[in-house]
Amino acid sequence: MRSERARAGDGLARRLSSFAVVAQGLLAGTSLAASLPACLAPDSDCSLREVAALAGVPVGSAVNPALFAVDPLYVPTLVREFDSVTSENAHKWPSLHPAPGVYDFAAADAVVELAEANGMRVRGHTLLWANPERIPGYVNDMASPDVLRAELTEHIETVVGRYAGRIAAWDVVNEPLENLGSTLYENVFFQQLGPGYIAEAFRIAHAADPSALLFLNEVFVTVPGTERFDAFLALVKDLIADGVPIHGVGLQTHLLGGLVPVDPATFQAAVRTFTDLGLHVEITEMDVPMLGGGADALDLQAEIVQEVVGACLAVPLCDAVTFWGFTDLHTWIDGTFGPGYRPLLFDEAYERKPAYFALRHALQERALAMPEPAGPASALAVLAALGALARRRAPGCGVAR
Ligand code: G3I
Repeated sequence: MRSERARAGDGLARRLSSFAVVAQGLLAGTSLAASLPACLAPDSDCSLREVAALAGVPVGSAVNPALFAVDPLYVPTLVREFDSVTSENAHKWPSLHPAPGVYDFAAADAVVELAEANGMRVRGHTLLWANPERIPGYVNDMASPDVLRAELTEHIETVVGRYAGRIAAWDVVNEPLENLGSTLYENVFFQQLGPGYIAEAFRIAHAADPSALLFLNEVFVTVPGTERFDAFLALVKDLIADGVPIHGVGLQTHLLGGLVPVDPATFQAAVRTFTDLGLHVEITEMDVPMLGGGADALDLQAEIVQEVVGACLAVPLCDAVTFWGFTDLHTWIDGTFGPGYRPLLFDEAYERKPAYFALRHALQERALAMPEPAGPASALAVLAALGALARRRAPGCGVAR
């Protein structure tokens, strides 16, 4: 007579469509069932932030505080689904510090206060956007290195100091490389202070809040071996070699979905290149604009989200994901490229799109892959053992993920 264990193995082998399904099935009815949170089941209806909390990975969105009071669905959706926010524009130099000695913190404070009231992390974006067009005119006009250095110091000390202990991570410098190029922007800081202005900015920020994680944020640097990637990597390595307090790299991840294919393995190789240096990597500004209005485009978008986010989250030091907005109703893409690209997770009526579920799935996978504390209550150890049992009973079939 076959044992209870063997009969259980038969049942299990039939249910190997995914690791999560295995987890759910194997633990049902055992004392360990409670060890696998319901939010990790494939049919769970948990929010992104509930799953993200289990994965230990903040899930974020860029936010526009001008919408807080005018769009009744904006804040409720944001605080239900996300546990991290980035000001889309409110923390930028031109917004905060539009004239010498003039600061306006109203919009930026609104973002931080909303986050604090709802248990959300804040990413600060950005202390210095290297593109001259994003530097206020009065700064671009500064003709003396001493005056410019004093202004840079005052700006960073004032802004980082105001939010010390409240903003967890700063994009200290945004987009240091020229648009699509492989050389530094020769902006006013470069001209007056030399390329070392980037290191200076990091050092000033670190002194103003030693607890904040400091990032270099860049776009289109996810294909190792390209001139642009190599230039960015060389910059990062130089900063590390000079003892600059840089803690992470932000990969913006604005993807031209459907137009330019993204190879997840290549993306992961880029991530690993930075984590191998001991740096955190965050996806900081993801969106996937799509051509075409049909459901196919949204399915492809979901596939891209799941593969790219999954590729990053498979690397332990890739430890946060932020989208550049969350509803297709409010996206910079419309303003820049026109309407219809639907780049985000919710549609214009705040219905969840396939990309939403794809992101949630990627977060679930990260949570399921997390090492468990050793001991009898280790659900994943039990899963591994039962998975091995099931594999033995179905030769040639691995656990599909
Ligand atoms: O708020 C004013 C409004 O009063 C005025 O009537 C209108 C006229 O143009 O402009 C409005 O400000 C615009 C602002 O977005 C708010 O919508 C600015 O012109 C416009 O330049 C600004 O664009 C932002 C852009 O950065 C430049 O700062 C986008 O919203 C924002 O999504 C975009 O974000 C960047 C990241 O910071 C860095 N990575 C790329 C990403 C996308 O470009």
